[in-house]
Order: sequence, then structure tokens, then C-alpha cells
Amino acid sequence: MHKVTSEIYTETNNISEKLDNGNAVTKFAFKCPSYMIDPTSTGGTFKYDDDDDLDVDRDKEETLVIEHSESTELNLVGLQVWRGALLLADYVLSHPDLFKDQIILELGSGVGVTGIVASYLAKKVICTDINVGGILSLIERNFQRNRAYVRSSYNVEEVNFLDLGWSRRLEERLQEANIVLAADVIYDDKITDGFVRTLSKLLYMKKKKTVYVALEKRYVFTIADLDTTAPMYEEFLRCVEKYRMNWSVDYISIDFPRYFKYDRVQHLVLMKIQNNTKSIAYA
Ligand SMILES: C[S@@+](CC[C@H](N)C(=O)[O-])C[C@H]1O[C@@H](n2cnc3c(N)ncnc32)[C@H](O)[C@@H]1O
Repeated sequence: MHKVTSEIYTETNNISEKLDNGNAVTKFAFKCPSYMIDPTSTGGTFKYDDDDDLDVDRDKEETLVIEHSESTELNLVGLQVWRGALLLADYVLSHPDLFKDQIILELGSGVGVTGIVASYLAKKVICTDINVGGILSLIERNFQRNRAYVRSSYNVEEVNFLDLGWSRRLEERLQEANIVLAADVIYDDKITDGFVRTLSKLLYMKKKKTVYVALEKRYVFTIADLDTTAPMYEEFLRCVEKYRMNWSVDYISIDFPRYFKYDRVQHLVLMKIQNNTKSIAYA
């Protein structure tokens, strides 16, 4: 079967080691935002050097240690790390005001990079994905590996975009969230349709939610159009038009600070979606 490999592994200076289960463990270095090192900012982490002096090096780097596959078949791409995860992680790190003490639901979490970063600021993180290839236990292991940055409570749950028959327990858990994150889940017609239907269900819950979707417009040349198009991105926009009632869809400029190392290519897109229906009785 055809295998795919994320571009991330060739464009950063990550250091990997191989595990017996065939996975790699990669160090993803990131530049610390000032509030992670500035003891005067709320919730900052105090750091001291060898002489017990306060260490306030503003270019300080920290590292996420992430277990992942190096290449997979298309149905297991969640076992890899994709650019969208790092773009969304950068957005979270550069907007502590938006994410601090929030209850954050991540859809299609993959190996958990964005969720782990969000948990540094959030009150609670709910990481979700389809339960294939051991992905949910991989997310759990990655949260454990990066305990130092996990400052919120967290849950790992199965949410399958193609099965919206949620148990009452799951529905109550998802209801709690006021922020929804999703990175790089737009790459297949059927999954994209299921993803937007999932957003629709979440956006009509009592508790108001703000959704941030990171995606990469993957351009291809098609004979039908005799041009390069981004078919999955266009399919996503069609689905949004089909299911939305009173949603606002805003594009966020991607010129916010870059903490992780990756190519922030111009085809990366970050969108903010909200339901503006006034008649909802917000909890
Ligand atoms: C390209 S990966 C992105 C993973 C991660 N967010 C990242 O950016 O590194 C696509 C994600 O969508 C998830 N996915 C695929 N089909 C799904 C479905 N039916 N329901 C929920 N998630 C699904 C995959 O398991 C995977 O985690």
C-alpha cells in the first residue's frame, strides 16, 4: 500500500531515536514565550542557573519529546506529526490570553502535539481522535513523556467524525469545552464532510465554542481544471457552506511568532469559526 511521510521530518533539525515498536521518538525544540520563563508573568515557570540566580534568558529553548511513526499508510496519518499541528501550537503559545484557563477540545489530535502545548495554559484539555493504530494510547504516552508542560487536567477520548452517535457521557464531556482545535484534518472528501458535521454538532451545543482550524492547502494539478487547485480545501469550504447556519468564518493572519521549527509555508491557513446564533441559551 502507498505510504505517506510528513514534510516535518526533513525541514527541522529534530533528533530522533528508534523504539523497538518501530516508532521514532523525536525532540521538537521550541523557543519559550516570555511567560514560560518570566517569573513575573502569571503562571510563569521559575528557572534558576547553577549559581541559583534567576535565569531569564529570553531565547531559551525547551523541547517536546514526541513518539510517532515516520511514515504510514493514508488511514494512519495521525501517527505522524504534521505542519498544521505546529502552526496551531504556535498560535496557542502566542495567544496565552485566549487559551489560559479554557476548556479545550482537540479533534483529530494525532500524536497530541497541539493538545500538549495547549495544556500548558488550559484548565482542561480533551484530546480526541479515531481509535486506529493505537493512536489514543500513543497520545496518552506523549502526554506522559511531556509531563513538565502538562499543567491542566486532560482526557483522551475517541471522537470519530463518521459516527456522531455519541454516548451521553461523551456528549457531556464535549459539551464542557469552549474552544475547539483541529489541525490538518482536511485531506479526504468523506472525512472532511464528517469533520464539518462534527463541528456543526459541537457549535449547536449549549456552551458557546470558538473553533480554530489549521490546514494546509495542498495544491495539485488536475486535468479537469487544467490548473493547479487545492481540492480538499475547496471541499472544506463547500461543506462549511452546506452545514453552516449563522456561523462566522474568519481567516487569521499567520504572521504570529514562530516558536517551533518548521517551514511556515504560505499555503498554511488558520480559520476561526463561531456560531453567532443569538437564541442559544448559553450555559
Ligand atoms: C494529517 S493527521 C493530523 C494529525 C494532527 N492533528 C497533526 O496535525 O499532526 C489527520 C488526523 O485526522 C484523524 N482522522 C482521520 N479520520 C478521522 C475520523 N473519521 N474521525 C476523527 N479523526 C479522524 C487522523 O487519525 C489524524 O489524527
